[in-house]
Amino acid sequence: MTMAPLLIFLFFLSSIDKATAQTQRSNITVGSSISTNSNSSYWASTTRLFAFGFYPIGDGFMVGIWIIGSSNNTIIWTAKRDDPPISSGTVLLSTDGRLLLSSGESDSPLIDASGIASYASMLDNGNFVLYNSDSSIIWQSFNFPTDTIVAGQRLEVNWTLLSHFSETNHSIGRFRIVMHTDGNLVSYPTATTNTSRDAYWHSGTWMGGSNASLNLDTDGRLYLLNSTGFNIKTLAENRTGTFIFRATMDVDGIFRLYSHQIENNGSVSEKSIVWQSLNLTDRCEIKGTCGPNSYCTMGDDIVPRCNCPEGFDFVDSQHMFRGCEENFIKQDCGRGTEGMTWAVAALENIYWEDDGYALVWVANEEGCKQACLDDCYCMAALFKDGRCSKQKLPLRYGNRTNFATTLIKVGRGGTVTDPTSSEVRKTKIGNEIFVAGLVLIICSFITLLSSCYLVYRRKVAVYGMIPEQSSTPAFIEEMNLRSFTHDQLASVTDNFKEELGRGSFGKVYKGFLPNGVSRTIAVKKIEKLAEEGEREFEAEMKTIGRTHHRNLVRLIGFCIEGSHRLLVYEYMSNGSLADFLFKAEAPPDWNDRVRIALDVARGIHYLHEECETHIIHCDIKPHNILMDECWIAKISDFGRHVEIEAAESEIILLDWVYNCFEHGKLDKLVGDEEVEKTMLERMQMDIGVFRSSVVMLVVPIPDTMLLMALQARLPMPVQQRPRRQRRRPLRFLQED
Ligand SMILES: *[C@@H]1O[C@H](CO)[C@@H](O)[C@H](O)[C@H]1NC(C)=O
Ligand SMILES: *[C@@H]1O[C@H](CO)[C@@H](O)[C@H](O)[C@H]1NC(C)=O
Ligand SMILES: *[C@@H]1O[C@H](CO)[C@@H](O)[C@H](O)[C@H]1NC(C)=O
Ligand SMILES: *[C@@H]1O[C@H](CO)[C@@H](O)[C@H](O)[C@H]1NC(C)=O
Ligand SMILES: *[C@@H]1O[C@H](CO)[C@@H](O)[C@H](O)[C@H]1NC(C)=O
Ligand SMILES: *[C@@H]1O[C@H](CO)[C@@H](O)[C@H](O)[C@H]1NC(C)=O
Ligand SMILES: *[C@@H]1O[C@H](CO)[C@@H](O)[C@H](O)[C@H]1NC(C)=O
Ligand SMILES: *[C@@H]1O[C@H](CO)[C@@H](O)[C@H](O)[C@H]1NC(C)=O
Ligand SMILES: *[C@@H]1O[C@H](CO)[C@@H](O)[C@H](O)[C@H]1NC(C)=O
Ligand SMILES: *[C@@H]1O[C@H](CO)[C@@H](O)[C@H](O)[C@H]1NC(C)=O
Ligand SMILES: *[C@@H]1O[C@H](CO)[C@@H](O)[C@H](O)[C@H]1NC(C)=O
Ligand SMILES: *[C@@H]1O[C@H](CO)[C@@H](O)[C@H](O)[C@H]1NC(C)=O
Repeated sequence: MTMAPLLIFLFFLSSIDKATAQTQRSNITVGSSISTNSNSSYWASTTRLFAFGFYPIGDGFMVGIWIIGSSNNTIIWTAKRDDPPISSGTVLLSTDGRLLLSSGESDSPLIDASGIASYASMLDNGNFVLYNSDSSIIWQSFNFPTDTIVAGQRLEVNWTLLSHFSETNHSIGRFRIVMHTDGNLVSYPTATTNTSRDAYWHSGTWMGGSNASLNLDTDGRLYLLNSTGFNIKTLAENRTGTFIFRATMDVDGIFRLYSHQIENNGSVSEKSIVWQSLNLTDRCEIKGTCGPNSYCTMGDDIVPRCNCPEGFDFVDSQHMFRGCEENFIKQDCGRGTEGMTWAVAALENIYWEDDGYALVWVANEEGCKQACLDDCYCMAALFKDGRCSKQKLPLRYGNRTNFATTLIKVGRGGTVTDPTSSEVRKTKIGNEIFVAGLVLIICSFITLLSSCYLVYRRKVAVYGMIPEQSSTPAFIEEMNLRSFTHDQLASVTDNFKEELGRGSFGKVYKGFLPNGVSRTIAVKKIEKLAEEGEREFEAEMKTIGRTHHRNLVRLIGFCIEGSHRLLVYEYMSNGSLADFLFKAEAPPDWNDRVRIALDVARGIHYLHEECETHIIHCDIKPHNILMDECWIAKISDFGRHVEIEAAESEIILLDWVYNCFEHGKLDKLVGDEEVEKTMLERMQMDIGVFRSSVVMLVVPIPDTMLLMALQARLPMPVQQRPRRQRRRPLRFLQED
């Protein structure tokens, strides 16, 4: 297939001054068409610098816009990029004013225009435009960039450029660059969160406002404007010469500005790089270069390589960057695996993102191995200086470092069996549902990782405007907590304006951290600065500061300044479980309650067994369980609520519930409600997955609902019921 000229335009290069280049049009009237199997396979702009039409890729064609090059065409836009290339087809501007693509039997609109087209134009700046009968624009390619912007085009706020999958596959690839509302231009791997933990490059500009934009001028200047049109950062300076400029999110994750010189005879020369977001020799620093469970290493050339750990194979051997998966039977902690042996392989000097669900302190690497082997949920552990962080799969962002070791659990042989095999037939369906439930929970956990997860690591500071305070008490040093000044917290809470709740030690306020991506926080102001307040403050810092679990409300930072003592937590937008149970219009159904119960049980299990200091939470109750924006339940220690006296009837109910449990009559508790009986049995028998045997149930009781924690066979004395004399807001107590 050759790109034979459709129309011969005689023009002189001297006529391509900027003004005319923007306005000249090659009018495409209704009834016009282009086709893969004719000499007219594209519509060119009047200056013949840009073309819209079919371009060859692989064995087929895609529809797009390109710079008509001297040897190779440079694609700057692709229609329906995720559709497979077509072997032949026609694009028609139909008489009823639609731009249609027909390939095979079907006709489908190529784009979604907001009106009926009278004519179209391939403009000389690279913009393909549809006009209505009033000559108003009803659609333009400049408003739907794929991986590139060209001079004159802007990347508006909330817009994203997504890289190609590969040079020969233009569907959505591994990387994206986003123009954020705060003015920061940030690169992330595709399908990750908009948080600094996934970002690998950013422009470092936060003063953008709601209408910030990335702009590229015809003189090659690439810069960011804020809402009021001020240049807040120039990424690349202007230059003289006759060039076509384009900025592209490249396949390798680097955002580059290219120039293509326009020769005297009107042809366009090969590209050269004018500017790039990252000057890396180590491409492994680009997050997402290697997919899940794989790690990146650099060879002698500048090409990054993806590797699978022992026990894992490439998901796609053609495209190794897509990651690795286990080549052994996946462990199923709910059902058990028979005849399977587990070993732990060590990968020296390889580190992953630390997304541990539990942290243990161990004497040496051997201790970390053992800790992982002993825990059915542990599939890998990151070991560094006695710190053993247990991980679930998938692992992300693996690369080479000099200081750490990854321990990976590998299974051999074995078949998945049901532990209650004699009763297999009877409970099979129930188990499947239970397993399905677990899978759902795990899936939602994974989804969560990419949607809800909030970070509080030190590197967050790179994105925040708020500098870190230098003097911190010794006990805080190891905790990865962020230190704030009082002024900063006053500013992020709008002078402690919105009160979320109050406890005996002070009030909790809502705040907003202006990060690369903003996020909401809860700031607790410890007001009683007597000794008791100081102790409360330190106790919380020491206990919660060291915990790290999805089902515990997270402490992000603190402020110690003069007499001020403040604690900063992640914000839980959906209120407390008590609200959900007692006040919501639609209280949670059985499935929700089970899910919440499991969440809480996980949190308790972590406190009791897995975090470095065993912590007993003496006051689990619905008021102290908060729901985040994804309705994940998290145990908290601070109320949004004034202390409520536990009613006598509540105490009696608790006794009754405990009695029912002891006598195996839990079904009494769920009353008439349709519940999955086998699941209830399983929960009763042994929640299985939680070896501390913390059984949590949310039971409806006539006229009220109650969250009940039934804690049996615990390795340490734990109070099952709230102590009546305890009238302080819930706290974590440290085991002495
Ligand atoms: C394109 O069509 C519009 C409206 O029909 C007309 O005003 C304009 O002059 C045409 N331009 C060219 C280059 O033919
Ligand atoms: C394409 O152009 C060539 C020469 O210009 C001509 O011989 C051929 O018939 C044309 N093909 C079609 C399908 O128009
Ligand atoms: C043109 O494209 C071909 C195939 O994609 C490639 O092999 C060649 O290196 C390119 N030439 C230039 C000058 O970029
Ligand atoms: C950008 O996205 C944010 C969050 O989704 C939204 O609040 C804001 O209104 C959007 N801004 C524009 C200009 O669309
Ligand atoms: C990230 O931000 C962009 C721009 O605001 C938005 O389109 C996208 O949906 C966001 N992604 C996530 C996962 O929130
Ligand atoms: C291009 O990559 C996408 C995304 O991985 C894949 O689904 C598609 O099959 C690929 N297309 C071709 C033609 O290889
Ligand atoms: C844009 O930047 C100018 C100059 O720095 C500043 O005066 C103006 O307030 C900024 N606008 C916004 C909306 O931040
Ligand atoms: C956004 O800014 C651009 C120029 O910086 C301006 O043309 C546009 O009207 C602005 N949009 C809004 C909604 O303020
Ligand atoms: C860049 O633009 C400025 C102001 O428009 C001009 O003074 C300067 O000469 C230009 N630089 C180049 C290299 O063209
Ligand atoms: C235009 O000139 C360049 C060098 O100046 C040359 O490489 C190219 O082949 C020429 N193209 C045409 C169509 O003459
Ligand atoms: C990349 O390196 C070049 C030359 O060393 C330098 O001019 C440019 O500023 C660097 N760019 C970045 C983003 O570091
Ligand atoms: C390796 O990955 C870690 C975690 O993602 C990251 O902090 C570190 O900067 C990376 N190191 C290199 C050399 O890329």
